[in-house]
Amino acid sequence: MKKRVAIIGVTGSVGQEFVQSLNNHPWFEVTQIAASERSAGKMYLDAIRDASGIIAWDVGGEIPEYIKSMKVLTIDEINVQELDLIFSAVESQAARDIETKFAKDLPVISTSSAYRYEEDVPILIPGINDEQAELLETQKKNRDWKGWVAPLPNCTTTGLAITLKPLFEKYGAKKVMMTSMQAISGGGKTGVSAMGITDNILPYIPKEENKVKIETRKILGKLKDGKIEDADIKVSCTCTRVPVIDGHTESVFVETEKDIDPSNAKDTYNQYNKEISVEGLPSAPKEYYAFHDDPTRPQPRMEREVGDGMTTSIGRVEKEELFDKGLKYMLFSHNKKMGSAKGAVLLAEMLYKKEKI
Ligand SMILES: NC(=O)c1ccc[n+]([C@@H]2O[C@H](COP(=O)([O-])OP(=O)(O)OC[C@H]3O[C@@H](n4cnc5c(N)ncnc54)[C@H](OP(=O)(O)O)[C@@H]3O)[C@@H](O)[C@H]2O)c1
Repeated sequence: MKKRVAIIGVTGSVGQEFVQSLNNHPWFEVTQIAASERSAGKMYLDAIRDASGIIAWDVGGEIPEYIKSMKVLTIDEINVQELDLIFSAVESQAARDIETKFAKDLPVISTSSAYRYEEDVPILIPGINDEQAELLETQKKNRDWKGWVAPLPNCTTTGLAITLKPLFEKYGAKKVMMTSMQAISGGGKTGVSAMGITDNILPYIPKEENKVKIETRKILGKLKDGKIEDADIKVSCTCTRVPVIDGHTESVFVETEKDIDPSNAKDTYNQYNKEISVEGLPSAPKEYYAFHDDPTRPQPRMEREVGDGMTTSIGRVEKEELFDKGLKYMLFSHNKKMGSAKGAVLLAEMLYKKEKI
C-alpha cells in the first residue's frame, strides 16, 4: 500500500517539480492536489496555462499522465482523512495558515520558510542532519498536533550547508563568506520578470541573505536537551540573481581551525559520499557530492542533470591566502531538485524509513 499524499501549491514552480518527482514513486501516490482560488476547480492541464492559454510547464520533459486530468482543489476541499502526508509548496505568508491547519492532523513537509525559525522545528537536509528529525516528536507534543511541519532550507542554504558539513566536522570551519549566482526559477513562476533578468544581474534578493545565515547555523548545529544548539560558525553572504534558468552557483570562502590542504578536500568529500545516510532511498543520487579537478567546472548547464539534480557539485577548490587556514571553492546545487521538490521527496523517504510517516 502506497502512502497517499497531497501537493499544495501544485501549479507553481516547485509544485510542478513535485508532480514530476512523485511520478511512479514506489512509496508515495499523489491522490489530491490544491492551489489558490485562481486555479481551484480546473483540471491540472488547464490550471497551468498562462494568460494567453499556453501550457506553462517549467519542468522539462512530458507532463506525467496521472496529473493531467486531476482536479485542482481549494485548501478547504482537501480531505485529510484520506491522506498520510502533505507536501506544501506555497509562499511563506500563505503557508503559515495552510501548514498549521494540516499539521493538526498530518505530517507536512514544506519548502516554505513559514516554520523554519521556530525553536521546535528542525530544518532538515537528508544525509546532513538526520538526527535533528527527533525534534519533530517534541514539536508534536508542544503543539498537541497529530502531525508536524518539517521544512527544507532555502534553496541557497542547501548547497552551502551540504558542502560545509564535512569542512565543519573535520576541519572546524568557523567563518564563511559566500556570493550566490541564483537561477531565475528560484523566484517562482511570477518572481522575476524576463525584461528584468535578460542581459542583467540583480544584486539583491529580498530577505535571502538573512535566511542563509540563520539556517546554515541551525542545520550544522546539534540537537541537545530537546533544542538545537546553533553551530559556532559565522556566515556572511551576498545573494544575486543571474540569467540562468535552473540551479544555483555559489562562490565560497571558508576559514577553518585546522589546516586543510586543497588536495585533501577531494578525499574528504569522497569519504562523505560513502558515509552519508541516503543510500537506498528511491530519490537519492548515486553520488551525493561530485568533485571536479577541472577548473572550468562546475557550470549550471553541465551539472544540473547530474544525479537527476540531486548531486551537489564542487570545484575550484584552492587554498585561500586571505586566511591562515582555509579554502575557497565554487558549488552548484539544483534549486528545484535537491533544493526543494525532489529534496522534499527525499526527506519524506528518510522520515518514512524512520517510521515518522
Ligand atoms: N522556486 C524555488 O526554486 C524554490 C526553492 C526552495 C523553496 N521555495 C519555496 O517554495 C514555495 C513555493 O515556491 P514557488 O517558486 O513554487 O512559487 P510559485 O511558483 O509562485 O507557486 C506558488 C504556488 O502556491 C499557490 N498558492 C499561492 N497562494 C495560495 C493560497 N493562498 N492557497 C493555496 N495555494 C496558493 C499557487 O497557486 P496558483 O497557481 O493558483 O496561484 C502556486 O501553486 C515558496 O515558499 C518558496 O519560497 C522555492
